[in-house]
Amino acid sequence: MMKTIKIDNEKIYKGTLLLVNADYPYKEKDTEGQIPVDSRFPNIRLKKNAANILQFILEKIGAEASIVPVSGYRSEEEQTGIYNDSLIENGEEFTRKYVALPSHSEHETGQAIDLGLNKENIDFICPDFPYKGICDEFRKVAPQYGFIQRYTREKEKITGISHEPWHFRYVGYPHSKIITELGLSLEEYIEFIKNYTSSCKFSYMTSSGARIEVYYVPKGTDETLIEIPNGAVYQISGNNIDGFIVTLWRKSNE
Ligand code: DAL
Ligand code: ZN
Repeated sequence: MMKTIKIDNEKIYKGTLLLVNADYPYKEKDTEGQIPVDSRFPNIRLKKNAANILQFILEKIGAEASIVPVSGYRSEEEQTGIYNDSLIENGEEFTRKYVALPSHSEHETGQAIDLGLNKENIDFICPDFPYKGICDEFRKVAPQYGFIQRYTREKEKITGISHEPWHFRYVGYPHSKIITELGLSLEEYIEFIKNYTSSCKFSYMTSSGARIEVYYVPKGTDETLIEIPNGAVYQISGNNIDGFIVTLWRKSNE
């Protein structure tokens, strides 16, 4: 048996899988449910789930003292200030590479965090987050819990942003794991999922044997109708472009 969920089309601008880049601005300006990622840094905030999971990962790998949050949620005004200051201090070429245009930064969603190795002088725009030691351990473990390294060297042409070893984006599990295993950028993943529909879902097996299905539903004319199996655990996120991504957690006998 299925049930039908009706979703307001404006919800395509909400969720953990929003694609925010130079082509797609963040429109929602939603600051609800944000909390500090660490009580020592009350001004560095993320949406609650992302903040809690970040804390969980840092505790799990014993990195609370050695990895520090550098920049989390930014308002559009803050992003504008960072962009303009960087133009003056670093010039246009650097700024285009490392600072997203105002309204086009995923920091504005409250689901992106810059992390730095804890040391005396931490660069605000490009903190040190090396490919070794505890930082690399974070990088490797993060996708198991919902975070991806968003801007890699290989995908610079696709993301439009230069390699940023320090910038992590919360997309939620299992998307973080699938993106990492398939070696995709978020841009590519959002496109990839469009190949899957309610009648042909992408199926992912977790290492513990659970089956998760993922698919795309284009937004409807006035509202969007999504069919969900009765009793299924599900999540629906907008993609910030033209539709929704549905995640279904199936029981092993389904
Ligand atoms: N540094 C990233 C691209 C931002 O400004 O959102
Ligand atoms: Zn960042």
